[in-house]
Amino acid sequence: MILAAQLSDTHFDLTARNAERVEAVMAYLADLPRRPDVILVTGDITDSGKPEQYAEARLALRADIPVHVLPGNHDDRAALRTELLGEPASTAPVNSAHRVGPLTVLMLDSSIPGEPSGLLDEDTYAWLRAALAEAPPDGPILLALHHPPKPLFSPVVDVIALADPGRLAAVVAGDARIIGVLTGHAHSPIATTFAGKPMITAPSTASVLGGAWEVTPPHRVMDYAPDPALALHVIDDAYTLTTHFRTVAMGGWLSEPPT
Ligand SMILES: [Fe+2]
Ligand SMILES: [Fe+2]
Repeated sequence: MILAAQLSDTHFDLTARNAERVEAVMAYLADLPRRPDVILVTGDITDSGKPEQYAEARLALRADIPVHVLPGNHDDRAALRTELLGEPASTAPVNSAHRVGPLTVLMLDSSIPGEPSGLLDEDTYAWLRAALAEAPPDGPILLALHHPPKPLFSPVVDVIALADPGRLAAVVAGDARIIGVLTGHAHSPIATTFAGKPMITAPSTASVLGGAWEVTPPHRVMDYAPDPALALHVIDDAYTLTTHFRTVAMGGWLSEPPT
């Protein structure tokens, strides 16, 4: 079996709170008797794309397990590249492919610089076509992107979801190797289907965004009380996807009072 941990929406913002929550999740993973093979972080790494916030992320996300990231709408492609990936600054999409045993993980950049909503642009579709052509013909593939490509009954996120989801759906439905789609952005653990495949949205380590039955703006939109959470994806020998969700207890302790 392959075990892939997914963290999302860490929103590093130079407060101790959000960094400590990620550190607690990383410590939980490091202490597991059977540790994950890979850790995926699906966007909104930082709260506002500042280089210092990526420096925080680089420290907190250190592991002796491979850690792969993709950007969300709160990120900045150039700063993410220079501060987190150690690459030259560029505003081109941050797409990446990774092999984990027989599994291929394709991390897609659905961010639109300066916009909260998402889109996979022409460069990313060209990259995806090439990556699918290069992936092993008989191995499973997971696609990961920040913006969910379908409504999730999340009043905040549904209006800034992925545009043109039909184009991605055609790719997902048309390739039998794709066993699932992983997203972030919704700050809630969510399971559904997309193009006939499992679609899993990881919770945020930072906060919970309410569903349509919970949200009453402006005061009841984002819940900061719940503990940080993550998704744990198992890919079995038959290449099917099973996901567990975990919260990591902070015990209510804060190193600084909430503002
Ligand atoms: Fe977020
Ligand atoms: Fe987001």
